[in-house]
Amino acid sequence: MKHVVWWWLWLVVVTVALAAADANGSQKYEKQPSSLEFQFADKEDAAAAAAAPELMVGLTLIDSAASKGAVCLDGTLPGYHLHGGYGSGANSWLIQLEGGGWCNTIKNCVFRKTTRRGSSKYMEKQLPFTGLLSNKPQQNPDFFNWNRVKLRYCDGASFSGDSQNEAAQLQFRGQRIWLAAMDELMSKGMQKADKAFLSGCSAGGLASILHCDEFRDMFPETTTVKCLSDAGMFLDATDVSGGHTLRNFYAGVVSLQEVQKNLPKTCLDHLDPTSCFFPQNLVANVKTPMFLLNAAYDAWQVQASLAPRSADPHGEWNECKGNYALCNSSQIQFLQDFRNQMLNAVSDFSKSNKNGLFINSCFAHCQSERQDTWFADDSPLLGNRAIAVSVGDWYFDRVPVKAIDCAYPCDNTCHNLMSK
Ligand SMILES: *[C@@H]1O[C@H](CO)[C@@H](O)[C@H](O)[C@H]1NC(C)=O
Ligand SMILES: *[C@@H]1O[C@H](CO)[C@@H](O)[C@H](O)[C@H]1NC(C)=O
Repeated sequence: MKHVVWWWLWLVVVTVALAAADANGSQKYEKQPSSLEFQFADKEDAAAAAAAPELMVGLTLIDSAASKGAVCLDGTLPGYHLHGGYGSGANSWLIQLEGGGWCNTIKNCVFRKTTRRGSSKYMEKQLPFTGLLSNKPQQNPDFFNWNRVKLRYCDGASFSGDSQNEAAQLQFRGQRIWLAAMDELMSKGMQKADKAFLSGCSAGGLASILHCDEFRDMFPETTTVKCLSDAGMFLDATDVSGGHTLRNFYAGVVSLQEVQKNLPKTCLDHLDPTSCFFPQNLVANVKTPMFLLNAAYDAWQVQASLAPRSADPHGEWNECKGNYALCNSSQIQFLQDFRNQMLNAVSDFSKSNKNGLFINSCFAHCQSERQDTWFADDSPLLGNRAIAVSVGDWYFDRVPVKAIDCAYPCDNTCHNLMSK
């Protein structure tokens, strides 16, 4: 119930922002896709913090990053939160790349400098570690005693850009931040890792896909290295008006931040850079074992990519996208088509034995960092296994995990962000 309330608050904020944009045009509209994610994360953090006393972990700024030009949008130092491992987890390292949308224009990147997504000046000095970051075995059975790191996101291009705009005093240094952070963690003991696991949700889930093989190459062959992308399967989909909202947005992110410099050559040799920022054109070619965790009806994508206000000027999707029980049959069919695109996008990927999948038919976004979806008495299940168990079984090669749900509405274990 609490989540439903937060969802509605969030929706109201989004709707107000969009209405303002429609009335006025530029600034509010342009920063909208990233604003969506700000609100989402804020509300979830607040909801989680209210629920139970949790492990709070302090922010460390990366001093060595400055000399490498590895800085946030506003030039401040990047940062991370690290909670040390012990016992059987003492030499195991889990990295979680924070998400939070992207910025695609000078204007909305300048706005982002005034937030924690673009400047460490505004980052929380400590964050709760829940879900796969939890230190409690009953909340996080396989990774609780690992070294667990949350790397903050302050570049606006999924840790992958490398350029600057002097006139606007913007640094686009996602790739450098990624590398400087890994250097720092290596010096803090990660170089001795026998197991390493790169994860991330949303824009961080995309980053996990983009950086997975680079991460693998930082370790000796004797280290077990795998990656998890949670809610990172952003599809190059047609929106409800027949346009390409997310593709147009990504084109701005990629060109402004010169992301193409860091995209895989195996993709760029046959597709344009914007296409190579879409995971559907990347995942089958990632060499390192990877797990894709995604809701087939990803709530963020429904809201921001499929039926944003700009593609639905008369608000015909407002009721449906806020409460899918109110969708009519043609809207449900549209969402089922989206699920089919999702399944097509992971089909080659899923053929490889090394990979894992958990694609549930829920209206959710980011299921690994929230305790209620990662591992709880009533958390989402596929094949009777919770997400934490599925990811752990796959990571430790206990059993293969290739779990794809039947189509909506067959799953009654979902924690949907929209009310039923
Ligand atoms: C748009 O914004 C400008 C400045 O922020 C304001 O002066 C103007 O009245 C706004 N226009 C509308 C239609 O709201
Ligand atoms: C569903 O709703 C949309 C938007 O209001 C409308 O255009 C469409 O005709 C409706 N479809 C059915 C089958 O009622």
